[in-house]
Amino acid sequence: MADAEGLKAADNYGLDIPVSAQSYYLKGLEYADWGIKDRMSRIFNKKSGKTVMLAFDHGYIMGPTSGLERIDLSIVPLLEYADSIMCSRGILRSCIPPTFNKPISLRFSAGTTILNELNDECIIDVDEAIRLNASCMAIMVSVGGKYEAKTIQNLVRTADAGNKYGIPTLGVTAVGKELVRDARYLSLATRVIAENGATFVKTYYCEKDFEKVVAACPVPIVIAGGKKLPENEALEVAYKAISDGASGVDMGRNVFQSEDPIAMIKAVKGVVHDGLSAVQGFELYNDLKQIL
Ligand code: 5RP
Repeated sequence: MADAEGLKAADNYGLDIPVSAQSYYLKGLEYADWGIKDRMSRIFNKKSGKTVMLAFDHGYIMGPTSGLERIDLSIVPLLEYADSIMCSRGILRSCIPPTFNKPISLRFSAGTTILNELNDECIIDVDEAIRLNASCMAIMVSVGGKYEAKTIQNLVRTADAGNKYGIPTLGVTAVGKELVRDARYLSLATRVIAENGATFVKTYYCEKDFEKVVAACPVPIVIAGGKKLPENEALEVAYKAISDGASGVDMGRNVFQSEDPIAMIKAVKGVVHDGLSAVQGFELYNDLKQIL
């Protein structure tokens, strides 16, 4: 029962202190709901405004990918260095200790594999995202592909559910025949994904005019790493994408297939969060590799 007597009177109203103007630090999310902002601020570093996500969801369409044969051996030691992890619910439940407490970008659509035409997908129930404490739901969107309408509908339904429960939606530019890595295609795809409700967008870097892709997308963009490159080249891609306005990377093979994955993810973080150039990032990679 609440005490009715002896209560200390409220008298600390700070009448001479104006309420400070508040502004959210991520592009296009000023008017998003509290739960969305809270979860996004787990994924994106509040000081740099950027993120290094570690993607290891490849098996959901590719089976046992090189470097992901034993998640417990290759990925679990990397978890502490990632700002966020991106994986399927199967890998999350079977291999990722729930004590790591990293924000989870949950692979939220599934369907065909590389043995068939990709992107004929359905979405998972939002209850799963809540049960697994997901910080965002990642949906494949195949703009221009055979399953364009279906994947955009998946995105729309995910964003509806996400808005209901305060969970961000990550719209992923799907891999497939339609994916052309130029600014024309990527700006169309990312803009369509943002307009249809994604809280942030994952796409691929392109050499020419990537800054225009970023400028035309009203919400944050993170880039996928793509196929394995030599470490200096992968760091160069990360550096150029960040310089062109990307809000981070969601990198898989260029980290877990690296000769030294821990040194590599630390070097990527140096480029993404600490303003290192690609050359400085590569020096850091080599320094860390030597002392490991
Ligand atoms: C596929 C994905 C993967 O997570 C993505 O490709 C990241 O991995 P990588 O850096 O190896 O390309 O979303 O659509």
